[in-house]
Amino acid sequence: MKPRVFITIRIPKQTLELIGSKCSVEAWDSEDAIPREMLLQKVGEIDGLVEDGDRIDAELLNRAPKLRVISNFGVGVDNVDIDEATKRGIIVGNTPGVLTETTADLAFSLILTAARKVVEGAEGVKVGRWKNWGPMNLLGVDVHGATLGIIGLGRIGSAVARRGRGFDMKLAYYSRTRHMEIENELGIEFMEFNKLLGECDFLSIHTRLTSETRHLIGEEEFLRMKPNCILINTSRGAVVDSTALYDALSQHRIAYAALDVTDPEPIPPEHPLLKLDNTLITPHIGSASMATRIKMGSMVAENLFAGLNGEMPPNPVNPEALPKKKTSIS
Ligand code: DGY
Repeated sequence: MKPRVFITIRIPKQTLELIGSKCSVEAWDSEDAIPREMLLQKVGEIDGLVEDGDRIDAELLNRAPKLRVISNFGVGVDNVDIDEATKRGIIVGNTPGVLTETTADLAFSLILTAARKVVEGAEGVKVGRWKNWGPMNLLGVDVHGATLGIIGLGRIGSAVARRGRGFDMKLAYYSRTRHMEIENELGIEFMEFNKLLGECDFLSIHTRLTSETRHLIGEEEFLRMKPNCILINTSRGAVVDSTALYDALSQHRIAYAALDVTDPEPIPPEHPLLKLDNTLITPHIGSASMATRIKMGSMVAENLFAGLNGEMPPNPVNPEALPKKKTSIS
């Protein structure tokens, strides 16, 4: 009998076919997130789950007695209670590495777009606001020569730093651990957190969401930033306190925010942040290129198959959970 797998998100056709070749698959086929109640029902009989962003907690895992593997379609697994999964011998896999450059491209495009008011300009052209060329029209700020501060110098953070170097930016970072090799390679300077906040013209966030990093950027941190600072977030929305962000932007304590992630997410159209004219929000498209999504899909399938077989997935998040019992899906 083929193992039963439930997929909560739309995934590339290739991945769906690959998974379908070895598993009996049911998939949620909508842009809307699957309702919680429905997901709680679906997990009752499944051996494997492919998801991204759904809340996978003790309540859900208690309803999934056969579940052996959770294959996360993405690198961030803050939506999964890893300890609860581990306790139950459920292995969790993710997709690090393959999305690094694509996500860094998006982060850097937000830097450029925000700095040069690209969206404001393009929107204005569409509604007839382009009257003339004028020396004072739509003045942005220069990216070259500006200081780019990076929080979290992991794979994506360093890929953004590399792009910053190519644009002749001054580079600085804060991270819990020093990365001497990257410092030497890129000429990026380590700074204490508070100092970094006060020094940079662009602040790009690349840290995971954990209990320590939730609301890492809040009221106090905004007070330390320069009034010209442009905040970029492509990591997780809740690293920034949304209320404090709204206050900082509406009182012009910082200049602008360009966000690919929000808290809450998706951000509802009536949210106050969307009423501001110094905010640009994209819908969590960091890794959204077809090529990258196909690579992610292959990793998702490999992690899933290994987990269903009781083997270590190529990209395990909680290797200590590996169940002793082996089950072959051939
Ligand atoms: C990731 O890979 O973490 C993306 O943000 C999708 O969750």
